[in-house]
Amino acid sequence: MGQKVLLFLLHVFIPILVIAETNSQDFLGLQSVKDSWKNTPPSWVSSDPCSDWEGIGCDNSRVTSIKLSSMDLKGSLSGEIEKLSELSTLDLSYNKDLTGSLPQSIGNLKKLSNLILVGCSFFGPLPDTIGSLQQLVFLSLNSNRFSGRIPPSIGNLSKLYWLDIADNNFEGTIPVSNGSTPGLDMLLQARHFHFGKNQLSGDISDKLFSSNMTLIHVLFESNELTGPIPSTLGLVQTLEVVRFDRNKLFGEVPSNLKNLINCTELYLSNNKLSGPVPNITGMNLLNYVDMSNNSFDSSDVPSWFSTLQSLTTLMMESTQIRGELPVALFSLPNLQTVVLKNNLLSGTLDIGTTYTNHLQHIDLRNNLIAGYKKSNTGYSHELILAGNPVCEETGTESYCKVSDSQSNSSGSYTTPRNNCVPSQCSSEKTSSPNCKCAYPYTGILEFRAPSFSDLENSSQYKDLEKKLWDSFESHGLSVDSVSLSNPLKDFNNYLQISLKVFPFGQDRFNRTEISGIGFLLSNQTFKPPKYFGPFVFHGDGYENYEVLPTSNKSSKSSIGIIIGAAAGGSVLVLLLLLAGVYAFRQKRRAEGYSEQSNPFVHWDSNKNSGGVPQLKGARWFSYEELKNYSNNFSVANEIGSGGYGKVYRGNLPTGELIAIKKAAKESMQGGREFKTEIELLSRVHHKNLVSLVGFCFERGEQMLIYEYVPNGTLKDSLSGKSGIRLDWMRRLRVSLGTAKGLAYLHELANPPIIHRDIKSTNVLLDDHLNAKVADFGLSKLMGEDDKDHVTTQVKGTMGYLDPEYYMSQQLTEKSDVYSFGVLMLELITARRPIEHGKYIVREVQKAMDKTQDLYNLGGILDSSIGLGTKLIGFEKFVDLALRCVADVGADRPTMSEVVKEIEAIMQLAGLNPNAESASTSASYEEVSKETAPYTFDYSGAFPPSKIEPH
Ligand SMILES: *[C@@H]1O[C@H](CO)[C@@H](O)[C@H](O)[C@H]1NC(C)=O
Ligand SMILES: *[C@@H]1O[C@H](CO)[C@@H](O)[C@H](O)[C@H]1NC(C)=O
Ligand SMILES: *[C@@H]1O[C@H](CO)[C@@H](O)[C@H](O)[C@H]1NC(C)=O
Ligand SMILES: *[C@@H]1O[C@H](CO)[C@@H](O)[C@H](O)[C@H]1NC(C)=O
Ligand SMILES: *[C@@H]1O[C@H](CO)[C@@H](O)[C@H](O)[C@H]1NC(C)=O
Repeated sequence: MGQKVLLFLLHVFIPILVIAETNSQDFLGLQSVKDSWKNTPPSWVSSDPCSDWEGIGCDNSRVTSIKLSSMDLKGSLSGEIEKLSELSTLDLSYNKDLTGSLPQSIGNLKKLSNLILVGCSFFGPLPDTIGSLQQLVFLSLNSNRFSGRIPPSIGNLSKLYWLDIADNNFEGTIPVSNGSTPGLDMLLQARHFHFGKNQLSGDISDKLFSSNMTLIHVLFESNELTGPIPSTLGLVQTLEVVRFDRNKLFGEVPSNLKNLINCTELYLSNNKLSGPVPNITGMNLLNYVDMSNNSFDSSDVPSWFSTLQSLTTLMMESTQIRGELPVALFSLPNLQTVVLKNNLLSGTLDIGTTYTNHLQHIDLRNNLIAGYKKSNTGYSHELILAGNPVCEETGTESYCKVSDSQSNSSGSYTTPRNNCVPSQCSSEKTSSPNCKCAYPYTGILEFRAPSFSDLENSSQYKDLEKKLWDSFESHGLSVDSVSLSNPLKDFNNYLQISLKVFPFGQDRFNRTEISGIGFLLSNQTFKPPKYFGPFVFHGDGYENYEVLPTSNKSSKSSIGIIIGAAAGGSVLVLLLLLAGVYAFRQKRRAEGYSEQSNPFVHWDSNKNSGGVPQLKGARWFSYEELKNYSNNFSVANEIGSGGYGKVYRGNLPTGELIAIKKAAKESMQGGREFKTEIELLSRVHHKNLVSLVGFCFERGEQMLIYEYVPNGTLKDSLSGKSGIRLDWMRRLRVSLGTAKGLAYLHELANPPIIHRDIKSTNVLLDDHLNAKVADFGLSKLMGEDDKDHVTTQVKGTMGYLDPEYYMSQQLTEKSDVYSFGVLMLELITARRPIEHGKYIVREVQKAMDKTQDLYNLGGILDSSIGLGTKLIGFEKFVDLALRCVADVGADRPTMSEVVKEIEAIMQLAGLNPNAESASTSASYEEVSKETAPYTFDYSGAFPPSKIEPH
């Protein structure tokens, strides 16, 4: 019998013991990281990440790399990542739903060498601790929403080779060292400073550059930098690409710039630089020069115009250059583009006969050129001389016309088929250049300073294709082919090219392959042909992973495995120990916190309500105080009531008005829930959200105190009850405000919040008719309670309720988008969502006829919208509303997309979407606060009623 038990035990536990390869601390760390994400790979269920989890790389059972680009991960990065103490590569690029701020504890990853977060949605300031990553060589944080200053501590990263923080909201000056404070001038190993598209400001310190640096790319374009270009820049002789364009730089360009003899791309355009036009004679490798739109002194045509033999592109518009262009300029062997418009060029234009076929575009409009000497052969590419005296007489010549064809900002190249007949592919599959139907991995290759300007030359794309293919091949990624298309130059002069990568011998990539391809591009392992210059890849999510039969037992099984593994022996001791230490630490931490925030001594912690709440900005009120402020909770002060209890108006001694929501006995929740709720509410601050002022939890009462929003609910305005007339413009503003409030909850609140009960009684209007979203009572923190955070009991209000959520019980932000769509329809019709048994969505769809004026909806519109006036943007508004109420959540826009679209509609209608408040026209001023009774529906913190009929 004993043997049988042993056999049984062996049978059950051996597989578990065998697979428990991963170091247990790493396992726990990964488990926490996983728990803060949705959409982790289906293989992430076993207790042995090292052997089974896709995207995880190990060395001796320690996790050393996490590569998860384009996995469609959602959520934030858990601070528990610090447990992975051997981690050297972390690549989370191209997961646009990864959000939140970067945890402080990231600084504890002492072995981290590559940190790559390109194209996610991380926000907030970078923690100073990033400067503790002593091994870091590659730091790529571009295309997120990081803000605040560049932490000076980055200067301590003495091994850093790549620093890309472009396309964020960084602000302030570029830090340089000063005494004991570090700065970026200390980064002597750095080859790349990619800082473009931020809001960096202030002067660039002379100290930033020195001869000891080894930078090759300095990209500071599209910031708000001021002052002169530091003269020390000329000491960094390794420089190859310099972009200072699109800033507010002024002063003279330092003359030692011409020492940068290895420089191939030089952009100084769109600043306020003054003094003489820079003399860049001797910078013989220059391909691309753009000094347009500066305030240089008027000068003769610089001599270097005809001596820089490598020049492909010369952009010097509005730089006050005068005199006759030398014919030698046009015979430079690589010249493609010359743009010298809005100058003082004169004389006769002679482009000679020795120009090459590369020369495609000469724009000399608005100069003083009096004649054009045509060559025998005739220059057949684009030449523009409009606005010159030479065109005043003839005027009819083709070069006198301004075609403004977009020819120089986009190219027509698409990778051709490889001698095959294209396949007819089913639905979403695409035919590859080898005519195989498959699901390609896609994205945009963005070249930030290409050396060429001719976008039609196909040989350069072929070069790029070959390099890409070779690179995939040599890294063991089985790729059928790559396809490039739609080359175009954007506003920042970045060349963008669409990339499609097709799988070999199968119709889709698996996760390992996608993360491999993603990493190759995000980590810059792939090197494009040098003349393409610095690049960055923006990967799309890959939506075509094989759908595996889902097992809902994932959480259970991994717990089972932990227990199983633990029962296996030494692991048990270790795990218990770890858990113990962890719990102890957490407790200590929590205690430490409560001591600090002791003002909440009145927190009634006897009632099993946990520690004192940690609030931001909200305060505690005593019962007595509130009783005073509300005139003893008198009927006269009552401004709303509902199943949850009543809302009273209160007067603070300061004269400020408050709304006190007092829970009825039967709708009170446990102390713990109440606490969670107020902690959540107190963290949420946005001008389109009703903010929490405080709470009271005393004498068996639960009360929430909110700011008082004077003009009542949107519903009361729509129904005419409040006496406020909402014209079309005001309705647009209200919808924009509401959308912004929701977008904040979804995308900026931390953790994100789904409202779950958007309706016209939950949108309040302030003094200026700004919309404020109320009632987070049904709100659900995303990722709050671990596993079931998406599956929840259905709550909400009939008529606004997302049918997909109702049926699947899967709650996502898109359920709010649905409700918002219904609200938009309510806004134009002033009808309740379900009125006389008719559903507004159905009614609009039924009546709608796109060929008719106002889509034939005139009959069901609210007459006070101003039917006599032109409702500019109305059709777009209806289109947007109907997209919001699409049956399938995935087809609905996100709230931030909705915000953008409403803003666009407002601009169309001539309104400034950013203006603070609504107009103050007569109809609004007439509204007297006394005559505007309304029902409050603040029900935050009270247990949600189930589906309530509207
Ligand atoms: C450059 O490095 C040398 C020696 O490594 C040092 O003496 C010098 O001060 C450094 N110069 C600058 C400008 O940092
Ligand atoms: C300039 O480029 C050449 C060729 O790439 C290289 O050998 C040389 O070291 C560079 N000069 C400097 C100062 O970096
Ligand atoms: C520009 O610099 C070159 C060489 O450094 C010099 O020969 C030339 O005279 C300069 N041109 C002007 C206009 O100063
Ligand atoms: C993914 O594809 C590669 C081949 O490209 C293969 O070796 C690997 O086993 C696949 N992974 C999974 C989990 O199927
Ligand atoms: C890419 O990442 C690896 C680390 O995984 C690193 O060794 C390599 O140098 C990186 N490639 C580039 C070009 O930085």
